[in-house]
Amino acid sequence: MAWQGVIEEYRDFLPVSDKTPIVTLKEGNTPILRAENLKKKLGINIEIYFKFDGANPTGSFKDRGMTLALSKAIEAGSKAVICASTGNTSASASAYAAKAGIKAIVLIPEGKIALGKLAQALVFGAHVIQVKGNFDQALNIVKAIVEKYPITLVNSINPFRLEGQKSASYEVCDQLGFVPHYHALPVGNAGNITAYWKGYKEYKKAEKITSLPIMLGFQAAGAAPLVQGKPVEKPETIATAIRIGNPASWKGAIGARDESGGRIDSVTDSEILNAYSLIASIEGIFCEPASAASLAGVIKLYKENYFKNGDSVVCTLTGSGLKDPDIVFKVSKEPLKVKAETQAVEKVIEGII
Ligand code: F0G
Repeated sequence: MAWQGVIEEYRDFLPVSDKTPIVTLKEGNTPILRAENLKKKLGINIEIYFKFDGANPTGSFKDRGMTLALSKAIEAGSKAVICASTGNTSASASAYAAKAGIKAIVLIPEGKIALGKLAQALVFGAHVIQVKGNFDQALNIVKAIVEKYPITLVNSINPFRLEGQKSASYEVCDQLGFVPHYHALPVGNAGNITAYWKGYKEYKKAEKITSLPIMLGFQAAGAAPLVQGKPVEKPETIATAIRIGNPASWKGAIGARDESGGRIDSVTDSEILNAYSLIASIEGIFCEPASAASLAGVIKLYKENYFKNGDSVVCTLTGSGLKDPDIVFKVSKEPLKVKAETQAVEKVIEGII
């Protein structure tokens, strides 16, 4: 049978009933890919797999949580949803609100979200409010707004978001047929690592799996409050999706780290961009910079001899590179320009082959 979306596929594990109206864009069932080329290129002795959640309907993992958040909002009779976002949450909330036929209001940090994400919110018909400040400030504002107005908050502090997002760990186990030794994720507001860990634990409790992975979270060096142990007032990174200084799911991320015996570490923007180019140029996967923090972190730990020979590591690639194509021009050469003559093109080709 064709894939039905996260809620129908994992209904037994989710807080829905027969009465819940299901709002879905058939999210989930994203590819898991073994990084054979990477293994050869880096000469490493671990097995890396990419869970490419950029292949979701709006191009990020947020859709897994948004199907549930919007379904429950509609069940509760909500007429509007609101979120603060570094871009992907707003794109996803806007799409699912459009599908549900209700209003979406999104607050984004002015000038600090990828153009493709802003375009998504606009085309889905959301009311976009640019805030002259960062994500943390925007999140504080939306929290105050929902105290006063009958609008449903769909940031990951809405528990239904994490309930939906935990489906990704079910899929990893179902697709691989085993539980990886490690699971690596980029960390921003820290909802996703919290959701994955919850999912793994629940799958084990339900006896679908018999072991748990060790959780690894990676923040950008300029926005690494969990690594520093205190909020960062002015977070900065090229990976705008994770430009967050005071994560809402702080405790969840620390819990995932400590209960699994894992690590939360930081990676520099240049390590992120290296991993970003590598994933695209040798594995054929175009993810966004924040997503590449997962591989950047794994490479960093590999160099510290953190892993054992043969360990399996799943890296979630959280979003699509198409959202932020400008970044490509920071890591790739401009295309050549030639006259519209066969000879001119031949000359170039002879230098290639
Ligand atoms: N990767 C991407 C592509 C993201 O958009 C985000 C978060 C993360 C990783 C980090 O996930 O917050 O659960 O730790 N984006 C949010 C947003 C904050 O507003 O779109 P997290």
